[in-house]
Amino acid sequence: MGERPNTGTGQGARHVAIIMDGNGRWAKKRGLPRSVGHQRGVEAVRRLVRAVEPMGLDCLTLYAFSSENWKRSEDEVDDLMNLMRKFIKSDLAEFIANGVKLKIIGDWRSLAPDIVAMLEDALEQTSKGTQTLAVALNYGAQNEIARAATRAAQAGEITTASIDANLDTHDLPPLDLLIRTSGEVRLSNFLLWQAAYAEMLFVDTLWPDFKPEHLQQALDDFGTRERRYGGR
Ligand code: FPP
Repeated sequence: MGERPNTGTGQGARHVAIIMDGNGRWAKKRGLPRSVGHQRGVEAVRRLVRAVEPMGLDCLTLYAFSSENWKRSEDEVDDLMNLMRKFIKSDLAEFIANGVKLKIIGDWRSLAPDIVAMLEDALEQTSKGTQTLAVALNYGAQNEIARAATRAAQAGEITTASIDANLDTHDLPPLDLLIRTSGEVRLSNFLLWQAAYAEMLFVDTLWPDFKPEHLQQALDDFGTRERRYGGR
């Protein structure tokens, strides 16, 4: 992470993060259970991960499960966890073949032990990949910042640089663009620190309808923005 010089006009984005919102509304509009919305949400994830390399991105970060999502019904939490298990099982080989490096951010080690083991294995098996898929699991930005500040203090110094170096995202490129789908305009405790200089895009598309073309459009739009980083 870290600050970057004023580059004038927006250049190609390297790191895009997405708040994937609207699965429930997508399902409701069709009279389907929310679980089907989440299933279709996973398909949208898969389509997008396949597009990361051709679009020239180094990193795609997805908000899959927030630390607040535990407040949902037990059935829905189970559905989301099962989708995670299925997704890793079915897509791991493709990640390895396509050079996708998995990264998990958030307090993910407190998830069910079988998921933690599965993720550890997937992290290990994809460690040689060149494009990063970062998945936020049991993630909350305030908690991430508090953890980073605690570690920075233990090492002797709290500065923006030392906090930055202790964030879960410390080894990812600076965040260029943050997208939220479904028409909601808020950050919901996602990447609060990292978004300091990111461009933001809020689109009405519900997540299951989000296609690589939408991301390409967002990247084209990003390329026309002037990024100032506080300068003029
Ligand atoms: C928001 O829709 C979406 C989520 C809370 C979870 C996002 C999860 C997925 C796309 C599937 C799992 C991901 C992976 C990587 C396997 P919502 O339910 O809040 O929609 P609503 O606001 O319309 O009800």
